[in-house]
Amino acid sequence: MSKPLILVNLKTYKEGMGNHAHTIATAAQTVAQESGITIGIAPSYIDLHPIARHFMIPVYAQHVDGSEPGAHTGQITVEAIKLAGANGSLINHSERRLTLADIESSIKSLQTHKLVAVVCTNNDITSAAAAALTPEYVAIEPPELIGSGVSVSKANPDIIKRSVTAVHTVNPKVKVLTGAGIQSGECVKIAVDLGTDGVLLASSVVKAQEPIKILRDLVSKF
Ligand code: G3P
Repeated sequence: MSKPLILVNLKTYKEGMGNHAHTIATAAQTVAQESGITIGIAPSYIDLHPIARHFMIPVYAQHVDGSEPGAHTGQITVEAIKLAGANGSLINHSERRLTLADIESSIKSLQTHKLVAVVCTNNDITSAAAAALTPEYVAIEPPELIGSGVSVSKANPDIIKRSVTAVHTVNPKVKVLTGAGIQSGECVKIAVDLGTDGVLLASSVVKAQEPIKILRDLVSKF
């Protein structure tokens, strides 16, 4: 069985800011080294540069705009996240939805700069649409399960299966992640057995008393 990507989104949880972000990154790096499984984290913009400089794990932005550098106040350009040390970015997260045109320009800009595009979607139909834009990853997350503590792998495995089929029908090279409520190695294994290349998750790690314990469990079936 091929090894999954585990991508931890720190969102804007206070348990994932500043020193807490460093604690989670330390745990992620330790578990990645122990297991040989890639564990990436997506910290807040404020923490992106220090985390990318201090750790060897892949670091992702939580959102990026497709705009060119210049007179665009408040925009986050791909150049800026690349200089800060990012390996890629989430795009169109359920908590940061974009227009189709915005998604396309963010993907193009990331790929121009050789960074990884992870486009989030909410069902199999939008997953197929996202795949047509040829990002490296499509991450299917049913919004009603996000942050719920109920795992998509157990509550709605069909949406994972349908999304994998939808994405690969459009473009077999696009990899698929899934997320929402992922909290254990069992959730990750189910997701991978259904054809995904890994998981995108947040609260189970970020809000844990001991994030390293959850991370060790997440990788335990591989
Ligand atoms: O970006 C991952 C996220 O939306 C899933 O959140 O807390 O359900 O793992 P959570």
